[in-house]
Amino acid sequence: MNKVAIVTGVNGQDGSYLSELLLEKGYTVVGLRRRSSSEKGLERIEHLLNNKNFKLVEADITDSGCVNGLFQEFMPDEVYNLAAQSHVGTSFKQPSYTCQVNIQGPINFLESIRLVSPSTKFYQASTSEMFGKNYEQMGNTKYQRETTAFVPQSPYAVAKLAAHEMVRIYRDSYGLFACCGILFNHESERRGENFVTRKITKWIGEFYHWKNQIDSQLHDNETDNDYILKISSELLGGDNRVTEKFPKLRLGNLNAHRDWGHAQDYVDAMYRMLQQNTPEDYVIATSETYSVRDFLTEAFNEIGIKNFEPYVVIDPEFYRPCEVDWLLGNTTKARKQLGWRPKITFQELVQRMVRSDIDAARKTKLERSSI
Ligand code: NAP
Ligand code: GDD
Repeated sequence: MNKVAIVTGVNGQDGSYLSELLLEKGYTVVGLRRRSSSEKGLERIEHLLNNKNFKLVEADITDSGCVNGLFQEFMPDEVYNLAAQSHVGTSFKQPSYTCQVNIQGPINFLESIRLVSPSTKFYQASTSEMFGKNYEQMGNTKYQRETTAFVPQSPYAVAKLAAHEMVRIYRDSYGLFACCGILFNHESERRGENFVTRKITKWIGEFYHWKNQIDSQLHDNETDNDYILKISSELLGGDNRVTEKFPKLRLGNLNAHRDWGHAQDYVDAMYRMLQQNTPEDYVIATSETYSVRDFLTEAFNEIGIKNFEPYVVIDPEFYRPCEVDWLLGNTTKARKQLGWRPKITFQELVQRMVRSDIDAARKTKLERSSI
């Protein structure tokens, strides 16, 4: 008999990668997706829909009756709770909603497990955002680990911390196998478009094709010398065309540091946590940190632009009321106990995201031109 895993947030970034991994390992995956008025939003899992071991089920994690029904119907061996209002900036504008989904959701699962299926193992998607302002320091290195105190800086982080503590309470009080992955930022070609990394690479993908088109227009009927003179004044110097015909990239704080890994590596850590003999919480990170500015530099380099500044506008709209300035995870525990380590480097991550968005923009352009 296949093991059965429920994956909430299955059509999100992590849900899609985790489902692939579990299917490869021979699981039956019950993927939960909340109701939507359109079929859009299944792009990340389209390739799984015909897999006989994958079942897509409509469910909202804030509905306790609905969650309870899932246990009666599927009796899962493992539950991975990835569903959340996951955008930190949005949580300042929708704090109550964020709490409802990010706290009530996991409580519904913990209660159902306690009452209906106490042997089910539970994974909760906790976050490095819970550390907020806080870090420890050794020499010049500032870092966070499992025992670093949490000082959350957003409604999102407060809600995630409440869920994190609930998991601990259910584990200690009722002996459930329930644990949390304290995951640092992880991105991918499937990252949501309003997170900073994907916002940058999506813009670059579209800009790349626009720039190529401008380059070829400028080149037509001109000598090479004329071309070189023109492109340097139009694109790199005065930059008028960038302003007038292609909107600049609007961003907020470029100085925040994040420990960015690839989501494919991180879902493997989630799986490993539920295969242990005892439930424990783990920090999952690359242990390297880069600023948003570093990410920009690396991403623009991919299309041969050394200085991103002429293309970027700092827009206060994207600043947060409270910021998390520094994240760098110490993964000693995960490396030792889970045998986990990330395989994809920061540079590979950026390269994969930029290349994927260049391809995606090319396809969109072709589709448009064939209409
Ligand atoms: P994501 O792409 O935003 O996916 C979140 C998923 O949750 C989406 O599929 C969303 O559905 C679903 N969802 C939201 N509210 C729901 C509800 N009430 N009922 C059912 N489903 C609901 O997020 P992600 O990057 O994959 O992250 C997965 C989890 O890890 C989240 O809990 C996030 O907070 C946490 N986390 C992420 C990171 C990171 O860097 N990626 C780091 C630490 C922790 P719709 O598509 O309909 O909105
Ligand atoms: N989203 C966004 N948009 N962020 C921007 C922008 C912008 O235009 N400009 C600058 N930033 C800065 C943010 O202020 C933040 O310091 C940093 O870029 C990263 O922002 P996000 O990509 O939105 O990610 P996050 O770190 O706030 O949250 C992500 O990681 C958490 C783990 O630490 C999310 O995936 C959370 O769900 C996750 O828990």
